[in-house]
Amino acid sequence: MTMLIAGQLLAFTADPFTVPPEDAARHETRGAVAVADGRIIATGTRGAMQARFPDATLRDHGDALILPGFVDAHMHYPQTAIIASWGKRLIDWLNSYTFPEEARFGDPAYARRIADRTLDLARAHGTTSLASYCTIHPASVDAIFEAAAARGMAVWAGKTCMDRNAPDDLRDTAQSAYDDSRALLDRWHGAGRARYAITPRFSPTSTPDQLSALGALWAEHPDCLMQTHLSEQTDEIAWVRDLFPDARDYLDTYEAHGVLGERGLYGHAIHLEPREIDRLRETGAALVHCPTSNTFIGSGLFDMGLADTHRVGLATDTGGGSNFSMLRTMAAAYEVAQLRGRALHPAQLLWLATEGSARALHAADEIGTLAEGSAADLVILDLASTPVIAQRHARAETLWEAVFPTIIMGDDRAIAETYVAGQPSG
Ligand code: GUN
Ligand code: ZN
Repeated sequence: MTMLIAGQLLAFTADPFTVPPEDAARHETRGAVAVADGRIIATGTRGAMQARFPDATLRDHGDALILPGFVDAHMHYPQTAIIASWGKRLIDWLNSYTFPEEARFGDPAYARRIADRTLDLARAHGTTSLASYCTIHPASVDAIFEAAAARGMAVWAGKTCMDRNAPDDLRDTAQSAYDDSRALLDRWHGAGRARYAITPRFSPTSTPDQLSALGALWAEHPDCLMQTHLSEQTDEIAWVRDLFPDARDYLDTYEAHGVLGERGLYGHAIHLEPREIDRLRETGAALVHCPTSNTFIGSGLFDMGLADTHRVGLATDTGGGSNFSMLRTMAAAYEVAQLRGRALHPAQLLWLATEGSARALHAADEIGTLAEGSAADLVILDLASTPVIAQRHARAETLWEAVFPTIIMGDDRAIAETYVAGQPSG
């Protein structure tokens, strides 16, 4: 059974950080995506698609914009209920809000409730895939993968490992982190659309032994992603220096223990040394920019110039991040880049939120593009979703002018529909 999803189409043909952004996309004002068995089988003009698939059912979204569903490359589903907690910077914020909330995930029923809530919120904001940290509790990993399977969503997740500088009820050991992570990886990695991500929280909460144990696990499963945090706040970096006196820099605390590699995702990566920048480029590791978090917790201004040379994804970092919306996240990325003297093009912002994040997850053959064979994970954007956006959109003379007001001022009201593996939400 073939379905045609019709609307304006925007499909990237190249990375807009390596070619002029306006040359990086194909635009069809009257386009359609043909979908069968949950996958994209063709895209083109609506007329061409109707001629080729005359028996297909039509879902007509008028002049709304069809994009690949947003990909949130770094978030913490266990922090959904503490999003927008007031007044702290990173370490105090973890101790005051995050750790007490994560302790509640010792109750599997609570974990499942928040996992369901998180994925429903993500999807309502146009996000069809995400990479999430869980908590120390293995059942918190089962909860997010079960919730994702119930919705058909491709999700990356892993047990967050911590064996020091965390409350008693949130600490594991080097050995139990290895054993639990391995058992979860065996259970979930590649089960349906689930993918396991090995997850040491960050160097301050892992001993060298724990980092080495997780590095060994990664070496045994090199097709897995590894996700962690890097150089988010200056106090944190000073603490890492004290905890790892022999390390050349923060990245070296990972590198020395086998936790640096091409399939590594390094959240934040704001205050980097030249050596770290070089090593991240040489290894092909991904930096994940979390701009609403970086302004909300007061971390600093990510250097988007790195996207010209490095693999960079975009993410909400919920609940350090202040919003579920990748539109709001793109707006914050635009503002942060402006504060560093660079105006990101709308093509670059949309690419980061889709294909860029998918490439960071090494999954651009499945998500983040409108290529044939990709999963039919789509977001349909109403480009005139509020009065102020509509009046600005009415003045637009180009596609990029038409979409930029939604990037800057849009939120979940702009999400006309999402499709996950070809299934609409409503
Ligand atoms: N660094 C270590 N853990 C966290 C976390 O949960 N959120 C953020 N923003 N930074 C972290
Ligand atoms: Zn984070």
